[in-house]
Amino acid sequence: MHPMRSTLTRISDRLEIVTASQPVHVATFGEDVVLGLSSRPRTLPAKYFYDDLGSTLFEAITKLPEYYLTRAETEILREYGWEIVRSLDAPFEMLELGSGSAIKTRLLIEETLRVQRSLHYCPIDISPDALRESAASLVASFSNLSITGYAADYFAVLGTPDLALKRPVLALLLGSNIGNYEPEQAHRLLLAVASSLRGGDGLLVGADLKKDRETLELAYNDPTGVTAAFNKNMLARINREFGGDFNLHAFDHTVHYEEERGAVDSFLQARGAQYVRLNDLDLDLEFQDGERIHTESSYKFSLEDLENFGAAAGFGLAKTWFDSEKRFSLNLFMRN
Ligand code: AVI
Repeated sequence: MHPMRSTLTRISDRLEIVTASQPVHVATFGEDVVLGLSSRPRTLPAKYFYDDLGSTLFEAITKLPEYYLTRAETEILREYGWEIVRSLDAPFEMLELGSGSAIKTRLLIEETLRVQRSLHYCPIDISPDALRESAASLVASFSNLSITGYAADYFAVLGTPDLALKRPVLALLLGSNIGNYEPEQAHRLLLAVASSLRGGDGLLVGADLKKDRETLELAYNDPTGVTAAFNKNMLARINREFGGDFNLHAFDHTVHYEEERGAVDSFLQARGAQYVRLNDLDLDLEFQDGERIHTESSYKFSLEDLENFGAAAGFGLAKTWFDSEKRFSLNLFMRN
């Protein structure tokens, strides 16, 4: 039996939220902090960036001139959204990994409602607040949209009977979110998506493309310092939630593009030797001068990488769309 127990809250006749209890094996923030900061090299999982302040800082990142990803993906959706939604047999349902309040999902919903009279949209998001907020705003904007939102870890919902979808399905994994998974995890995620889909269903993946080091490192280290604030907020969050005394002035945001892996790695680097105590976790840490905490990898892809990723999880790459500068890609995979 699956360990998930879910509860359904009906908010209106067009909006319901399914809240799934976490499967037993998902570690808490505190456990991940103790484990990650005690290991060598030290790490903190990128998923913990997104508390309230972190989500606001990420929104700001998407508006930076150096962070081209969001603009490029939006451009592709504006230009080719009509073609993307016509690649599937209408009427279809939409599944999204992450809750799409933003302009990108709206564009796709709008285009979909040009080819069919109504749409059932199923976002999965770990944050119940983000999910509720974005879902409520979407049903308010589109009178023929109904939403079943899942407040849960993707892996707790995908492939389970809780996710009741009518075929065909267009699944969305936008924003190069796939790039924040290690390749092995990304493979597991695609397998999990595949287990919720059937032949003829589509999966649209937004993926940033491999390119020159200068462009990539600037995208993750903007001169305004917004990305530095986003990264350092991880330490601020640990201070807030675990009674920590990290001195945010004593850590630098650094990035490095490792070409062989195709990943931009982000770090917080100690400026000077220092001690840090996290009271509520009863954890004492000693940092050497220059010691780094790895906080994020943002993988970049070639078309061949994407094709191989898809094939390994039972998907064929049907079509790829690019922005006008060919920096970013939207890839439509079809489930075999
Ligand atoms: C959400 N994710 C795809 C972003 C990225 O590009 O890896 C997060 C981010 N980190 C720093 N800037 C943006």
